[in-house]
Amino acid sequence: MRIICEPDYESMSRAAANIISAQIILKPDCVLGLATGGTPLGIYRQLIEWYKKGDLDFSECSAVNLDEYCGLAADDAQSYAYFMRENLFEHINIAPEKTFIPNGMNPDTENECSRYDGIIERLGGVDLQLLGIGHNGHIGFNEPGSSLPGGTNCVTLTKRTIEANRRFFSRVEDVPQKAYTMGLKGIMGAKRILLAASGESKAEILYRTFDGLIETDVPSSMLQLHGDVIVVADEAALSVIRKKAPGLLSRG
Ligand code: PGA
Repeated sequence: MRIICEPDYESMSRAAANIISAQIILKPDCVLGLATGGTPLGIYRQLIEWYKKGDLDFSECSAVNLDEYCGLAADDAQSYAYFMRENLFEHINIAPEKTFIPNGMNPDTENECSRYDGIIERLGGVDLQLLGIGHNGHIGFNEPGSSLPGGTNCVTLTKRTIEANRRFFSRVEDVPQKAYTMGLKGIMGAKRILLAASGESKAEILYRTFDGLIETDVPSSMLQLHGDVIVVADEAALSVIRKKAPGLLSRG
């Protein structure tokens, strides 16, 4: 695991976008695992800018997203499918048929989970998985619990996650209670993982992720078991690691 420390959100975003862009340049037909939420917005803005300048070409890339809310259609403004089109896909030359996201409207959970796992398998797995991190250590929507599912699964979101995500909805009651999420097998199966984090509110969980016990109560702690994780974070997000486990910051 390598931690890249940047002074602020903008430079964190640029550093993470650089890693994604290196991946695309080295393997133009790569499979990108993508994330939603507040953290990746700056990364996507940067990738769009480089694409518009002619420095990046997404035409051969595929993208698989981590998760989608159950009950929201792809044209619902709160859905992650909409988020991805609005914040990335519509501004770059990725082929829409090469972008994948769970279908939140499929009521047949088993069918949807195996369909999505089949897609990941047919693509040959993910080359570079971009991850944000929840305050409770969720990755994708894999919430803390006594066990962690391997494959794509339908999860009941915790109160904390619903609270954290209510900022995107007008009322807390509108935040869906369930979501489809790629499981730990899909995430940990990625050849490389890029975890992006910003802000002091992520500092404690980043510390527990990389210097704590590996436990299902902190799903992100599983990342300690992955051989190629790059963390790109700003100073604020790394403040607890800097104080309690500074050795992690100097590891190459
Ligand atoms: P955020 O969400 O980027 O909006 O902080 C991250 C997550 O919950 O995985």
